[in-house]
Amino acid sequence: MGDRQILTLYRDRPLVLESGDSLSPVDVAWESWGPAHPEGTILVLHALTGDAHAASHHPGDRPGWWEPMVGPGKPFDTRRWQVICMNVLGGVAGSTGPASLAPDGRPYGERFPVVTVGDMVTVQAQALDALGIGRLHLVTGGSLGGMQALEWAWRFPERVDRVAAVAAQDRLSAMGIGLNAAQREAVRLGLASDRPHDGLKVARMVAMLSYRSAAHYDARFARELQPGVSFEAPLDPRFQIESYLLYQGTKLAGRFDAWSYVVLSRAMDLFDLWRGREEQATPAAIHLASISDDWLFPPAEVSRLAARLRRLGMTVTCRTIQSDLGHDAFLTDLPPLKRWLGRVAESYAAPRSDSWSWPAQRTGDS
Ligand code: COA
Repeated sequence: MGDRQILTLYRDRPLVLESGDSLSPVDVAWESWGPAHPEGTILVLHALTGDAHAASHHPGDRPGWWEPMVGPGKPFDTRRWQVICMNVLGGVAGSTGPASLAPDGRPYGERFPVVTVGDMVTVQAQALDALGIGRLHLVTGGSLGGMQALEWAWRFPERVDRVAAVAAQDRLSAMGIGLNAAQREAVRLGLASDRPHDGLKVARMVAMLSYRSAAHYDARFARELQPGVSFEAPLDPRFQIESYLLYQGTKLAGRFDAWSYVVLSRAMDLFDLWRGREEQATPAAIHLASISDDWLFPPAEVSRLAARLRRLGMTVTCRTIQSDLGHDAFLTDLPPLKRWLGRVAESYAAPRSDSWSWPAQRTGDS
């Protein structure tokens, strides 16, 4: 955790959330790559169970969740841009979340308020204010990270030049909300029986099914059996896919917090880019990439969003990246995705008349 830094915000003035609840103080864990650079800053935002560690910082360091994308010579080339990644509000990796201590010295737990993607982005903007970073060359991320990137462009239009949202949309479908609901119910049952890890494990198993395509699982596991499993015990994991899902569930349960999972998945459900801003354009160039076999954010729906933005007169590109992995492909070393992200980072952004001047429009002192 040596390269992780913590900013403490909202000490004197609480963060007022969209729900009307408030939090004070608020910690934000962040990491950065490359020095402050005249070509600008790239803000990278993570998905549901990610953290600020998008990439390693030195040889031998733990690889980050977007290791192929961040570093010298990579799409987000740290010789050209400073890259910053922050753990979301409500997360478990250094930013204030349900596992953090409340002012009364006890963990917030179920007392932690509902947070929205808008709240997450507001806190990120406040953190960038504190770091002296105004305008952003690019805001990017996948899944929940892509939703945050889109929200940035509308919430702080004067600060964002480009957005690259991967495997993400303006709102989650009924299927997506339903899958999250099933996961939260598993977590709730785990908490109710004082076995939060078990609840999280089942939630992750369901989630892993939605993160990959049927074709991927078929090609990888087919109907392969586990060696030495008794056919008399119906609850024993018999197939390789069962063992894989149990492994993934147990692994997440060992590193994540049950209430944080609930809070973040609810934030994803609640996200609706258009709430309160129906048919409102924003000046940033919006670049959307879908994954061909992603059934959480299907390419047709991402194209629909692109068409809607174009109708508003916005600069939009939309690309489908071929991968039978499904949603999770955005986390892999996928050459077409790397090329696409690199092109977006280098893309032309029309000069803006609304020149944003630091520090005239700070989000407010913390
Ligand atoms: N039984 C038990 N375990 C198995 C198994 C089986 N039949 N088959 C594979 N495994 C284990 C492997 O031993 C390996 O363990 P390790 O992680 O301890 O090394 C692990 O499963 C491999 O996991 P997998 O996810 O299949 O790796 P991958 O290379 O296919 O996927 C990533 C790469 C980057 C997508 C994946 O590592 C990742 O980060 N997933 C995160 C999912 C996520 O959060 N998505 C966000 C969506 S919003």
